[in-house]
Amino acid sequence: MIQDFSSFILHPSSLRLLVTGGSGYLGSAILKRAPRGWTLAATYLTQPLTAENVAAFRLDVRDAGQVDRVIAGWRPDVIVHTAAHQRGEQMRAVNADGSQHIASAAARENARLIHLSSDVIFDGEHAPYDESALPDPISPYAESKALAERAVVDAHPQPAIIRTSLIYGFAPLDPRTRQTLDGEMPRLFTDEYRCPILVDDLADALLELATSGYSGILNVAGPQRLSRYDFGVKLAHALGVEPRFAPALSAPTETSRPRDCTLDISRAQTLLRTRLRGVDQVLQSLISNL
Ligand SMILES: NC(=O)c1ccc[n+]([C@@H]2O[C@H](COP(=O)([O-])OP(=O)(O)OC[C@H]3O[C@@H](n4cnc5c(N)ncnc54)[C@H](OP(=O)(O)O)[C@@H]3O)[C@@H](O)[C@H]2O)c1
Repeated sequence: MIQDFSSFILHPSSLRLLVTGGSGYLGSAILKRAPRGWTLAATYLTQPLTAENVAAFRLDVRDAGQVDRVIAGWRPDVIVHTAAHQRGEQMRAVNADGSQHIASAAARENARLIHLSSDVIFDGEHAPYDESALPDPISPYAESKALAERAVVDAHPQPAIIRTSLIYGFAPLDPRTRQTLDGEMPRLFTDEYRCPILVDDLADALLELATSGYSGILNVAGPQRLSRYDFGVKLAHALGVEPRFAPALSAPTETSRPRDCTLDISRAQTLLRTRLRGVDQVLQSLISNL
């Protein structure tokens, strides 16, 4: 596997940042929270970007030629690669091949690459997972994200690979929380554990990493391990909504799902100035600010 170079040496007031998937939930939070003075560009596929301070490129990461043209044409210092597909037949082409195209183009342009990976690359039977843990995916999405990590390592000399967990937030609500509160997810699992991270904290951590020389794998998730059901209950209570979901066990479902993907985030907590807050801490400050 790849090496760590944990030197936080660059603190530029100006930087050319390209965010792939800038129209997505995490991508748009990164763009909103990026420091003034940075020159921003972002890509979208189906949801055009409208922010005035961001150069927008329509890009399909499955098309290597298009990826090359955008990256060679705009010459970013750093690329944060968030674009991904979370379901459907195109997951491998978008997540694995697309990440390889981004990493190769970034390497050719000497751009730093921060690649977003996921806690679901593990089988969920050996938690907690630190940065030395090897992927052992048990679902097609997880397999595509594990292949993406390998493709990025093979194509780029010093990528930073960020393994994260459930991403949630309030302005706007993340899609999963919205569906949960709207009653579109009638069952939440009591036996699946994740380390949810507030999108603002994750975006700030990625922006901090963009100014660093870090390469290698880094777990960036929340410090509080919760079942999906307990997470849903906490969110519903904090937002004053009656829970419209029931507790359930994940075992009887058709798709293979990792049980416990708890990430050990001690390295990120040591390296980063950004505080990674647990769900209780975030919800407490949300309630105090109402
Ligand atoms: N959400 C989570 O809880 C979670 C947990 C762990 C890891 N992650 C990882 O974190 C990253 C960001 O997740 P997210 O929830 O912010 O994703 P998201 O909201 O679903 O956004 C996905 C983005 O990818 C773009 N995209 C999709 N197919 C594309 C293609 N073929 N070419 C170029 N762009 C394409 C979409 O563009 P359009 O919308 O314009 O079509 C959108 O901007 C992903 O890498 C994901 O695997 C997410």
